[in-house]
Amino acid sequence: MLSLRHAIRPVASRCARRWAHNIPSFSHLNAVTEEDLAQFSKILAPTSILSTLPPNSTSPDDLASYNEDWMGKYHGQANTVLRPRTTQQVSEIVKWCAKRRIGIVPQGGNTGLVGGGISLQKEIVLSLGAMSKVRSFDPVSVLYRRVKYGYPTPGILVADAGCILESLSEYIAPHNHIMPLDLGAKGSCQIGGNISTNAGGLRLLRYGSLHGTVLGLEVVLPDGTILDQLSTLRKDNTGYDLKQLFIGGEGTLGVVTGVSILTPPAPQASNNIFLALPHFDNVLPLYQTVKRQLGEIMSAFEYIDRTAYDMGLSHGLGPVLNADEVGNSQCFVLVETSGGNQTHDEEKLTGLLESLLSADKPLINTGVLSQSPSQFASLWAFREGLTECCQKEGKPYKYDVSVPLADFQKVVDAIRERMISKGLYGDHAISKVMGYGHVGDGNLHMNVIAKHGYRPELEEALEPFIYELVASHKGSVSAEHGIGSMKTHALHYSKSDVSIELMRKIKQVIDPLNIMNPGKVLP
Ligand code: FAD
Ligand code: MLT
Ligand code: ZN
Repeated sequence: MLSLRHAIRPVASRCARRWAHNIPSFSHLNAVTEEDLAQFSKILAPTSILSTLPPNSTSPDDLASYNEDWMGKYHGQANTVLRPRTTQQVSEIVKWCAKRRIGIVPQGGNTGLVGGGISLQKEIVLSLGAMSKVRSFDPVSVLYRRVKYGYPTPGILVADAGCILESLSEYIAPHNHIMPLDLGAKGSCQIGGNISTNAGGLRLLRYGSLHGTVLGLEVVLPDGTILDQLSTLRKDNTGYDLKQLFIGGEGTLGVVTGVSILTPPAPQASNNIFLALPHFDNVLPLYQTVKRQLGEIMSAFEYIDRTAYDMGLSHGLGPVLNADEVGNSQCFVLVETSGGNQTHDEEKLTGLLESLLSADKPLINTGVLSQSPSQFASLWAFREGLTECCQKEGKPYKYDVSVPLADFQKVVDAIRERMISKGLYGDHAISKVMGYGHVGDGNLHMNVIAKHGYRPELEEALEPFIYELVASHKGSVSAEHGIGSMKTHALHYSKSDVSIELMRKIKQVIDPLNIMNPGKVLP
């Protein structure tokens, strides 16, 4: 990796009363019985049914990975996991569950960070992992071919919901296309899970949210009906756009079984730089400068505060920058460019770096420009690896919020001060409070590390304080991870009573028996 200084010639309450956080009682639901297993065995192959009940008598250990989330924060009670291979099988399972009033938790790669994919009581887990076929891929969509011949155009991928995101990227790579989203969990998360959480990730700045890139969905509704809206049309303005309800629906309205999605052409030139900033106040002016100078080729702008940077180094993610040059820099950014012409993009990037370093009051202390694909990947690995580092530090309380960029650091500092004032800051309790995230999307990830594990008094000190803090900055309590079971009681900080009531009515119409991921999203 080349230091910038060498890469270019230096030219120089709401009220507490509402804060109830109880596990809902599911008196309207029934537990799975042997009779249910007999029915499931008419639908699925024996290897697709895991149940601790006889006659299957699967060992609870074999269900453990379905009953614990990625962080080890949420622990489920499911005694039965079903792994269908086809949409028809999903439909038949759901029909039976509706008849018998059995709760269903759809589960993808189980990388969700808000407890949405874990059962709360005895709901079954419906794991989509065995539905992993690509159904079709049109590298140059016919509609585009007619109007824009010769210009790289988005392809259209139609796939089963259980396809792993990274496998889909690998599938379309030889055709010179990429998935419109990318995230650190790409090796495990599934496209159906991405859609159900409306995952954001590292490419949202460039390609927008799944609300725009998903063309169609196939969904099994809570009564077992198959809703086939697997359109490959870019434009379809015929009434309500129903698929949008399931994007970010977190499995509460149905089981997504198939997905049709736009896949952008792979950029011909990709570069990234990692910059150290003397002060947090420089982030906003730097963002504006970079955006202005790089224009259409800027594809990501990611933020890492000093605590997160030092944590990454201590877990072997770096070094990416020269320690002397970093000095006491307060924060860091990773900027990516993706364009169509290497020479043009390099000229733009070099021009940017020259102007940054030659400024009278430089916005940066130092930085590196990747010089090869492997250096490009290792800069990204630093940013993407932070989530895993947090796990190694202890148990993270994770808050993914939207707040104005200018307030990012204020929010992180306020939480640290809160924990200090409560006598809960230090190796005995909360050892680190840090921020990183997607600056370009106004999305801050706050990670509060409980060194010796989750404890009720830590959570009580953090919540609802954090949600009130975010609301006071006119932010959102979830920018990308969703509500799950973690934030049902915090939904009102970001949604009005009228909105929540309308959401309830939609849930009531689509899932009147409340069997589909009960206890999630809605308070
Ligand atoms: P799961 O965790 O299995 O499920 C998540 C929710 O979706 C649950 O409510 C579940 O019931 C529902 N669901 C899953 N599949 C279906 C289906 N087929 N039909 C209906 N409902 C379904 N998130 C981001 O937004 N941006 C990031 O950058 C990001 N980075 C991450 C990095 C790491 C290391 C990790 C561990 C997580 C990250 N996440 C991120 C969170 C998470 O990976 C995403 O939310 C992901 O989209 C979840 O997909 P999954 O298949 O693992 O879903
Ligand atoms: C990220 O941006 O890294 C993810 O959303 C996961 C996290 O919050 O750690
Ligand atoms: Zn994120």
